[in-house]
Order: sequence, then C-alpha cells, then structure tokens
Amino acid sequence: MSPTYILGIESSCDETAAAVVRSGEQVISNVVASQIATHQPYGGVVPELASREHLRAIVPVVRQALADAGKNYESIDALAVTQGPGLAGALLVGISYAKALALALEKPLIAVNHLEGHIHAVLLEERQKGNHELRFPVLALVVSGGHTHLYLAEQQGQGWSYENIGHTRDDAAGEAFDKVAKLLGLGYPGGPVIDRLSKHGDPKAIKFGTPQIKHPDRNSILPQKTRNDGATGEKETHKKQLWSSGRPRPEAHADEHPRFDFSYSGIKTAVLRYVETHALAASIAERRKVLSKIAKPKLEDYLACCDQQTLDLIASFQRAIVGDLVAKTLAAAREHEIATLFVTGGVAANNELRQTFEQEAAREGLPVYFPSRPLSTDNAAMIAAAAYPKFVAKDFAAMDFSAEAGLALK
Ligand code: KG4
Ligand code: ZN
Repeated sequence: MSPTYILGIESSCDETAAAVVRSGEQVISNVVASQIATHQPYGGVVPELASREHLRAIVPVVRQALADAGKNYESIDALAVTQGPGLAGALLVGISYAKALALALEKPLIAVNHLEGHIHAVLLEERQKGNHELRFPVLALVVSGGHTHLYLAEQQGQGWSYENIGHTRDDAAGEAFDKVAKLLGLGYPGGPVIDRLSKHGDPKAIKFGTPQIKHPDRNSILPQKTRNDGATGEKETHKKQLWSSGRPRPEAHADEHPRFDFSYSGIKTAVLRYVETHALAASIAERRKVLSKIAKPKLEDYLACCDQQTLDLIASFQRAIVGDLVAKTLAAAREHEIATLFVTGGVAANNELRQTFEQEAAREGLPVYFPSRPLSTDNAAMIAAAAYPKFVAKDFAAMDFSAEAGLALK
C-alpha cells in the first residue's frame, strides 16, 4: 500500500497545532503554537481568548506544518481534526478550518477524539521506533489537564475500541497541578514548574493522606448494562466478556469490585490548609509579584523566591499525586490482567511520574510506554496518527459534524 499522508489539526484547548504523519507511524512535521503567554496573566485558560488565539494562529501553523513536511495542500491524502472533548469555542475554530480546507481540496476529513489521540501518540512513536509487537490487553492512563482516565484498549480489525474503567471524580491530575501552582503564586501552567521544583524539596516532609473515594460512584453500582458517566457524559457498555484474542476476560462486577477512580480536590484543599495554618500568604503574594514581572521565569528565578518549606510542600504534593496515580493504575492492571501499560497526556511528561511507573511496573514485569515529552502534551501528530486506521476503514466525517465538548471515548 502506498504511504498515506494525513494533515492533523488540533485546537481543543490552549495549543494550536498541525502536523503531517505518514501512515500512522512516522511524524513528518509537528508544529505547536502555545498560548501560554496569553493565558498566564489570568492563571488559567480563558476560553474566549483561546478561540481568538486559535483563529489567529491556525493558518500560519498549518502552512508551517506543510512546509516543514515538504508538502502542499494538494499532496496530502486526507485531513484529520479534533472533534472533542475540549473547549467548544476552541474546537470550532479547528473544525471550521478543517472543513473548509477539505471541501476546497476535495479531500476526505476524519474526526478524531482528543483522548484517542493521546493514546495513539504512544502507538505512533512505538511504530516509529520499529516496535510493532505490542502485547494485548493494553491499559492506557490518559492523564492531562482535563482528564484522569483509565481505558482498556483493544484493536478490532483496522480500528480500536475502548472501555473506560476509571475516571476522576473531581479535579483531573493536571488540573490539581495547575491549581496548586496558582495557589502558591507559581503561575500557569503549573505542572512543568512543580515538576522542576520538586527535585529541590523533600517529598516526605508533609504527609498527604491517600485520596479516599468515600462514596461509591452512583453510576457504577447501577445494575443496568449502560451507565452514564457523570463526570464526562460518557456512556459505557459492559457487554464484552472476551478479550479480542478470545481469551476470557476477568469479570469486573461494578458492585463487587471498586472502579479505579481518582480524586484530587482533597489534596488541593490540604495544600490550601497547610498554606493557611503555616501563614504562607504573605510570601506567596510576594512571589506572585516577583514572578509576574519576569516574562519567562527560569528555574533560578523560581528557586530564588521559594523557601525550603515551600519546596518541601511542592515535592510532597507531587509525591502524593504520583503515588496515587501509579498505585491505582497498577491495581487496575492486576485486576484486568493487563499485558502492556500506556501512560499519556500532559502529566505523562512529569519526571517523577515516569520514573515511578518505570520502577513499579518493572517490579511486576509489566512493560510501560510513554510518548516522548513533545508528544505527551497536546499536539496534532497524535490526531493524524489516530486518524490513520479510520482512513484505511474509510470512516470519514459527515460534513455536518460539529464540536462535542464532552465527547466520550468508546
Ligand atoms: O494533554 P495536555 O497538554 O492538555 C489537555 O488535554 O489537558 O495537558 C496539559 C496538562 C496541564 O495541566 C499541565 O500542567 C500538565 O498537563 N503538565 C504537567 C507537566 N507538563 C504538563 N504536569 C506535571 N508535570 C509536567 N512536567
Ligand atoms: Zn490533551
């Protein structure tokens, strides 16, 4: 089969991205325009500003991706665009542009779920390295600013199917990183800053309790076969009792076994309590003031305005999140007799998370794969890669499809 070049477009949150990927296994170009500078003064993503920035950036970003790939509009085979989940206004910019381009070029357009994109970032890079021998079943932890989700992923013919076996009940892990960074006057986005500063603190200094899921997820104890996921609007069916290999799958009765859910708002509140009880407000206000005057603070700038107590707090917070993510994911892997683990999404860029997963999974003889750091956070190469099996299956988007802010992955 001749190579297929897909132009991917991603605009679900605060990155405008375009990429060209060959046959789902080779990144030819990958361009990401970050909006960090736009949102930084607000300490988080402002949806309307995100849409405006996408509108400004989308044409130059796509042109750059084509130029870097040595391609032009005519020489690509198809377009792929993120349909959801994400910010509706932000998604609409990428979708409108991709539709217009597909119509004008008379090329097929493929709609991609952003979360499936994160999973395919791992597959893309493994294929690129020549690893075509993944063992199934696969468990994927998608851990980002908007999601902390565990999916069983199966290959079915050309395509893939997914079953959600756990999700966050409140804050996603990346959201907790961002909120705690904001609370401590460290700016936005919080994950990368906390990651770098944690190395300078004592992760055992402050003991945060393991997040407890006190009440069962009401949806998980419903006897029906179909349930609504309150957090994401997902509908999940539990009809599959066999792995695609034909091997019987361990039964997970929702009312007997806990779902592998996460909860991070409690840790965030515990950090806030610590700040209050240790009278850190004044030093945080000062830090915020100092850092707001530096356009792109370096590690030295952050370290210069963080005392040891704050660094210990940061390291202890990160340790608590990482410990919980790893423990729950490995418990799910054991229960579902998983052969391969994927860890992907923005938080998968975190150094301590990678190291801990590598150590703990190796102890259990479980291979664990991460995307490279540039493909862990939002990008369009993952969208073009996820589109490839759909291209082969001729699963093209109808021209009346629209953005779905709460799109489920199935
Ligand atoms: O996947 P992503 O780029 O966008 C979403 O789909 O949400 O993830 C962004 C999230 C942010 O919350 C950011 O703080 C977090 O990923 N993040 C990190 C790191 N790099 C990005 N969290 C922890 N450590 C990092 N190194
Ligand atoms: Zn993402």
